[in-house]
Amino acid sequence: MGMMDGKVALISGGAEGIGGTAGQRFVEEGGSVMLGDIQLEKAQAHAASLGERAAAVELDVRNLDQWEAAVAATKAKFGKLTTLFNVAGISEPGPVDTVDLESWNRTIDINLHGTFNGCRVGLPAILESGEDGAIVNIGSMLAMRPGSQFAAYSASKAAVTALSKSLALHCAAQNYPVRVNTVHPGAIDTPMYQRYLAAYPGSHEEAVEVFNRNHPIKRVGLAREVADAMLWLASDASSFTTANDITVDGGGSYRE
Ligand SMILES: NC(=O)c1ccc[n+]([C@@H]2O[C@H](COP(=O)([O-])OP(=O)(O)OC[C@H]3O[C@@H](n4cnc5c(N)ncnc54)[C@H](O)[C@@H]3O)[C@@H](O)[C@H]2O)c1
Repeated sequence: MGMMDGKVALISGGAEGIGGTAGQRFVEEGGSVMLGDIQLEKAQAHAASLGERAAAVELDVRNLDQWEAAVAATKAKFGKLTTLFNVAGISEPGPVDTVDLESWNRTIDINLHGTFNGCRVGLPAILESGEDGAIVNIGSMLAMRPGSQFAAYSASKAAVTALSKSLALHCAAQNYPVRVNTVHPGAIDTPMYQRYLAAYPGSHEEAVEVFNRNHPIKRVGLAREVADAMLWLASDASSFTTANDITVDGGGSYRE
């Protein structure tokens, strides 16, 4: 008996990183997943590696029509949608006074509007299933503890946090059986993190040390550690938890 038996998830950013690992764990726990991503071939290859209860669909989270198509593809393949993981996101550095305006807009578009689009299209589909459902959005340690060099990213993830709570309260007020929560990762070893290490001006060892130091547990996290928190929030084990934040950051949001 798996934690996700009978549940069907659509995961944005499901080709790799945290979304890819969440997809793997969801299938391991008995559920079915549709992996939505702009990297369609990578998502298809990942889905193929997970077996019959996984499939992939092209999805740019900025595009509402593609969200509609992704939800339709999920229902066509697996019969329903019970779970939405809004994971797709980008992180580009830049302080308020010099951040490139295109970068600012791109970050808000993907991280905030992309998550809004997913909630907008995903909620009615989950309600249509007639089952208890869950939406898990991905924030960041930087939503709780903004970084001076990450204006757009910190702002977009703080906004995702407020959006999640707003939707959670709306669902509760309407007696919709859908819970909405946010998971806030610290630095997690994914392709995104590897790009940050590669871009660091000093040595690789210095870069790793800097990232480790930002977490009281003194290391960065694993995608699986985030995915397992997401699975708990998507499962019936968290049935009284909504409008909440779970940090998976080795204590980083509260470091001294
Ligand atoms: N890795 C970290 O250190 C870290 C820390 C805090 C929060 N996060 C958040 O976790 C989420 C996943 O991060 P990750 O480290 O796995 O990133 P990643 O870059 O390793 O993977 C992101 C995935 O999202 C997809 N994607 C990007 N833009 C998209 C779009 N417009 N539409 C659909 N798919 C798109 C990419 O193709 C990729 O498959 C992001 O929201 C990120 O902000 C990551």
